[in-house]
Amino acid sequence: MSAGPRVARARAHTNIALAKYWGKREGAGNRPATPSLSAGLADLWVEARVAFGGDEGADRVTIDGEAGSEAEASRVLAFVEHVRGLARGPLGGARVETAMNFPRAAGLASSAAAFAALATASSDAAGLSLDAAALSRLARRGSGSAARSLFEGYVELPAVGDDPAAAPVAPAEHFPLRAAVALCERGPKDVPSRMGMAHCAATSPWWETWLDVAARDYAGIRSALLARDLERLAELTEQNCLAMHATALTARPPLVYWGPPTSALIRAVPRLRAQGTPAFFTIDAGANVVVFFEEPARSALAALFDDLGVEALWTRVGGALEREMEGEL
Ligand code: PMV
Repeated sequence: MSAGPRVARARAHTNIALAKYWGKREGAGNRPATPSLSAGLADLWVEARVAFGGDEGADRVTIDGEAGSEAEASRVLAFVEHVRGLARGPLGGARVETAMNFPRAAGLASSAAAFAALATASSDAAGLSLDAAALSRLARRGSGSAARSLFEGYVELPAVGDDPAAAPVAPAEHFPLRAAVALCERGPKDVPSRMGMAHCAATSPWWETWLDVAARDYAGIRSALLARDLERLAELTEQNCLAMHATALTARPPLVYWGPPTSALIRAVPRLRAQGTPAFFTIDAGANVVVFFEEPARSALAALFDDLGVEALWTRVGGALEREMEGEL
């Protein structure tokens, strides 16, 4: 039997891929079709608190103090149900609360941090003693990119193996980049990654090329990072991001994730770099642009965001997982 119902809390940070996971292999469990490499962000996190021991069948979910959408709540509950299946004894109903420290309306993908925090808190509360790799595999079931949010700094997730786990590549201090998240659009939600990548795989004539390019970019990004070669890391990261978005633009019907400030930044950031400003961009399945930079670039970037009327969240690479038990219910 497990030790009995307990309450656990975990805080995991968002991560942004330099080499993108975009495409799944056949079967369940979010097994990536492309290898990815990400940087954790130090100041953007999601916290999850999970308590087992309530009435059987009476699970409750609160997201940022509210019930959340039906789709969000059922995704969380399906995840908790999976964790329940891993426990050795009955756990009773679950009370799940998640909270994030950045505006939900900003349209920043939070599922990576959310499922990493949820995997940790729910398995701790269930009395499972999972090591870091097992936690990463569990988080991957909630959201592929969540597998990477279990680790600090630069992290990779392979596209091989039956049940892949992420692993650290280098701590943040290896290459202590800063990051600015430029909030380019706050409108209605984009097509979520899960649906976007499935649509691209099914309809983009560019898909097979993307799979080849992604594998090569990942290897180059990894070695540029290990060599602290900013110029090479910048070029490959931007190219990889644009190659991923090329599958979206060439999907049928097309997925255009960008807004006007997104395109403006795609042009402006490489221009600044050509003039000696150490900065480069990447974009997930949305309109926001994440600019990684070295400190001397800060004022030029601030001026650029000002010119475009874009608000930015300023942070740095980092983001270690934190967890604590609150004890018996
Ligand atoms: O983990 P998901 O299903 O939200 O997919 C993440 C997809 C990207 O954010 C676009 C790329 C990545 O590697 O994080």
